[in-house]
Amino acid sequence: MATTNTRQKRKRGTPTPIELVNRKDDAQFIADHLRPSSPDWNKWTHPKTQEAYGLSLVGAGRLSEADLAACLGLVEETSRADYEPSSMGWKPGQKRAEMRSAELRYLLVRNGKGDIRGFTSLMPTYEEGQPVVYCYEIHLKPELQGTGLGRQLLEYHEHVARHTPTVAKVMLTCFLSNERALAFYRRRGFAKDGLSPEPRKLRFGKVFVPDYVIMSKGVVNVVDDENEADAAAAASS
Ligand SMILES: CC(C)(COP(=O)(O)OP(=O)(O)OC[C@H]1O[C@@H](n2cnc3c(N)ncnc32)[C@H](O)[C@@H]1OP(=O)(O)O)[C@@H](O)C(=O)NCCC(=O)NCCS
Repeated sequence: MATTNTRQKRKRGTPTPIELVNRKDDAQFIADHLRPSSPDWNKWTHPKTQEAYGLSLVGAGRLSEADLAACLGLVEETSRADYEPSSMGWKPGQKRAEMRSAELRYLLVRNGKGDIRGFTSLMPTYEEGQPVVYCYEIHLKPELQGTGLGRQLLEYHEHVARHTPTVAKVMLTCFLSNERALAFYRRRGFAKDGLSPEPRKLRFGKVFVPDYVIMSKGVVNVVDDENEADAAAAASS
């Protein structure tokens, strides 16, 4: 989920570096930004059952209705209990619309029968003016939790961030009630971001206490180095 304004800044006539990235088709996005370290990146074997799973990347606009329904079902299965008592509430229609946001890309995890058993979604975007890769969702069926797959999926967010011009962090939002996920993110180097809301006094003596935290992890962007290396290779050929 994303809680703050994720709309991109637009300068008339000059697309931002992030807008240019979001216009790419999925194959180009994988090649330029996901940049998996192995051609077998789309194959994953369960460490305990040895069952084979497949990974694929697809933009929200190309996600089939059935796949969107499966992803929404997974969010409901793993996280409705966190949404329901929260300030956001569980609003499946709203969540569905957010999940169709044009710039989102999905990494889907399917079993041998083609059923979605896990997914994560991400968006290169501007958050309060900062270029970030926002992790919108990460959800695994119970059989895939505690297998190292969650860590692998989160690492893909860092890959995209490192290889996307101007981006220097991965950002995400987590309910404070979701202690397992909070601990998982902390172990992966995420910490509370400066954009995360603090408790504040409202009028009539009421106090706003946030029930979620915005976390982020800084990454070293390598796009300039890659461009220099490409230019040097082109000059010497
Ligand atoms: C949040 C979530 C994606 C995290 O996934 P996870 O299953 O805890 O994470 P991993 O798959 O990386 O597994 C974690 C542990 O599995 C263990 N593990 C078991 N086999 C492993 C293997 N072959 N390789 C690596 N780790 C392995 C490790 O001890 C690892 O612990 P570590 O983080 O200390 O390294 C998952 O719990 C989930 O889907 N939760 C429900 C939905 C949810 O809450 N989403 C977040 C919303 S904000």
